[in-house]
Amino acid sequence: MPVTTQQLIRWKQEGRAIVALTAWDWAIAQILDEAGIDVVLVGDSMAMVALGHATTLPLTLEEVIHHASAVRRGVKQALVVADLPFLTYQESTAQAMRSAGRLLKEAGVQAVKLEGGYPAIAQTVANLVLAGIPVMGHVGLTPQSVHRLGYRQQGKTSEDADRILHEAIALAEAGAFAIVLEHIPADLAAKITEKIPIPTIGIGAGSHCDGQVLVTADLLGLSPKQPPFAPAYADLRGIATQAVQSFANDVRKREFP
Ligand code: KIV
Repeated sequence: MPVTTQQLIRWKQEGRAIVALTAWDWAIAQILDEAGIDVVLVGDSMAMVALGHATTLPLTLEEVIHHASAVRRGVKQALVVADLPFLTYQESTAQAMRSAGRLLKEAGVQAVKLEGGYPAIAQTVANLVLAGIPVMGHVGLTPQSVHRLGYRQQGKTSEDADRILHEAIALAEAGAFAIVLEHIPADLAAKITEKIPIPTIGIGAGSHCDGQVLVTADLLGLSPKQPPFAPAYADLRGIATQAVQSFANDVRKREFP
């Protein structure tokens, strides 16, 4: 049975941990889905790990639609969620509705994710949900605000922690079905997880979240630089480099084919 947003909420109630990973193409999406991952996120981190940009900001809606369509074709079971890229939703609810609508209609994803929880964003989430578009929130370190926040851990002071907690509560009240908590202290993530009825999906937010997400390029050891909170479970960069070098040596020695 394909995973639904309602099922994620039931899993929180039952204490079953939710597993999420990012994908940017058909092959990666198939691997994740066949491995039984619950949520496949077409994250805007693809701007950095797949397209070579220095930040997530340059990614366009057209690019997300293109990649999300490929991911969608590779997934049979998991819930597919796509990121709304920078400045495709912050301007107004109408802009967010058009962008999210295109992701559902053209790429076939089942939900969208957007960053931030300040009042205008929570209002946008409420309007998207009313229009039938499931929304995942994202608070704490929000990479689309890198030029304001950097990549530092957020929520370290009590005021900042309070702000993030209230943003999460506002998103849950607006009807979001889950919230990503990125790079915040574990005790703050635990407090948010306890206070809101929807699942929290942590990345660099400790072990008390309802689920965990990683960028798949980091998990597989494909990224040139690993974030401090994302251990590599494999060294695919090393394995691929070795395979390419072996092929090149064989060709140069006239041993292939
Ligand atoms: O873009 C992304 O990959 C994300 C995850 C880090 C949650 O938003």
